[in-house]
Amino acid sequence: MSSKTDQRRPAPVDPLLYRQTCARFATGITVVTVVDGEGRPHGMTVNSFSSVSLDPPLILVSIDLRNAILGHFLSTRNFAINILAENQQHLSRQFSVPSENRFRGVDWQSGELGVPLLDGVLAHLECAVANTFEAGDHSVLIGEVRFAAYREGRPLVYFGSSYNELAQ
Ligand SMILES: Cc1cc2nc3c(=O)[nH]c(=O)nc-3n(C[C@H](O)[C@H](O)[C@H](O)COP(=O)(O)O)c2cc1C
Repeated sequence: MSSKTDQRRPAPVDPLLYRQTCARFATGITVVTVVDGEGRPHGMTVNSFSSVSLDPPLILVSIDLRNAILGHFLSTRNFAINILAENQQHLSRQFSVPSENRFRGVDWQSGELGVPLLDGVLAHLECAVANTFEAGDHSVLIGEVRFAAYREGRPLVYFGSSYNELAQ
């Protein structure tokens, strides 16, 4: 019975082709931040950010189950999305590589919900965790936006697995 079902299943898309195809979708880059039970800030670079709903205002990020930081997001009530500006490529790198303290040398403030807001970003959203669920090898974190702010400026862009800027 199960072998018949398996035979009818279409061949899975090649993983490299899948990644390269998804990389044709240009995104911004965010640093998602959270504070742990001892008050220490944590953050990671994420481009899976997407707005989900207007009413209520919901956003999502998708976090690899292997990421050490995931536990902090699953045990917190609040987190922040920091949308990087075009001159903040160094922050994208800093928050995506292993480090004892990713916030070293980074200026940030505590937001209304006590979440880390990075200085100089284009925009930030402070969110309450509304839902989390596993999808494949990632955990999807849905946040309800409680506070939002932005400034005029140009974004850091990610396309084809490379950093880009919007054309002038
Ligand atoms: C541009 C860019 C976008 C990324 N987007 C995501 C993402 O959406 N989800 C994710 O799980 N990891 C993403 N990563 C990788 C994580 O930033 C990285 O694996 C994570 O910081 C590792 O965290 P850890 O050291 O706490 O395990 C991205 C990395 C880069 C450079």
